[in-house]
Amino acid sequence: MPTSLLPNDILNICGETLKIHGYWLASGILGVAASTMIRAVHAGADAVVTKSLGSSPRKGHAGPVLTASHGGLLNAIGLTNPGIDAFEDEMKLLNKAKIPVIMSVFGNTPKEIAHIVEKAVKMKPSAIELNLSCPHAEISQISHSPDLTYKYVKSAKEIADVPVFAKLTPNASDYVSVGKAAQEAGADAIVAINTVRGMRIDIHQQQPILGNMVGGLSGPSIFPIAVRCVYDLYKTLSIPIIGVGGVSSWEDAVEMHLAGARAIQIGTAVMNDIDVFSKIKNGVSRYIEESGLNSVDDIIGAGVKS
Ligand SMILES: Cc1cc2nc3c(=O)[nH]c(=O)nc-3n(C[C@H](O)[C@H](O)[C@H](O)COP(=O)(O)O)c2cc1C
Repeated sequence: MPTSLLPNDILNICGETLKIHGYWLASGILGVAASTMIRAVHAGADAVVTKSLGSSPRKGHAGPVLTASHGGLLNAIGLTNPGIDAFEDEMKLLNKAKIPVIMSVFGNTPKEIAHIVEKAVKMKPSAIELNLSCPHAEISQISHSPDLTYKYVKSAKEIADVPVFAKLTPNASDYVSVGKAAQEAGADAIVAINTVRGMRIDIHQQQPILGNMVGGLSGPSIFPIAVRCVYDLYKTLSIPIIGVGGVSSWEDAVEMHLAGARAIQIGTAVMNDIDVFSKIKNGVSRYIEESGLNSVDDIIGAGVKS
């Protein structure tokens, strides 16, 4: 397996530029237990993104919170999490295992995000991912607004001594302006995309399936939406784009790189097959070798040059 075609470092600061690489576990997919995140790394993930953590424990929405739909999942979990303080012990285990961890955090105000980021950086993550975009929680509005996005990212950047990523929604009509605002506020990379707002109705009960009525769609059916968002953001921004949304095969990963993604996160596909990371890495490496190229860097944005 020609793994050398894929750089090993996930975050590598070369001069002024942050080089980001690899295939990471997306936020929220395997929860907050260190043991399951370590399992993902043993299965080939280069890094893990934690479930989004807030300032205090949060129960989330009433059930049902998850349903299968059109080859993917519709979820309205509602940011269930134990609160950032309760994550400290898990983080110690992850650091002990030398796992690159990106801590995903959210807050209800820029002041609250600063407070959470202050706590997060003390736990020594590799980077912080700001969830500005969960489509079934109050924070969903942040990444619809360039102004709010600017304020949240700026607030986090003033505190963080590690790279800060802004995770955007595909549900905003002008997500490119939102991306620009994140870049102007100092975001080190953009993560695109969070889930796509959706709804299902039970035809027998004649009522919405999810307790929250509306949820976020993930998995293969959102892949073309994610490719379009990555492309639009790549074309306009100068900071790296981390692609996420519906990737489940090496062919998807190559396509996401061609659209402009430097690193790729994988979510829903992991629930079907935890070995998806190594399958993707092997496939991408083979593709690069058979194309006569030197590294994955040679295909980033290569599909959208004109
Ligand atoms: C059950 C579930 C829980 C999720 N929880 C979070 C979360 O806490 N924070 C976040 O930023 N994204 C969360 N997401 C979104 C994923 O990280 C990812 O952006 C989205 O699912 C698209 O990728 P995928 O199609 O590969 O799953 C969640 C997705 C699912 C399916």
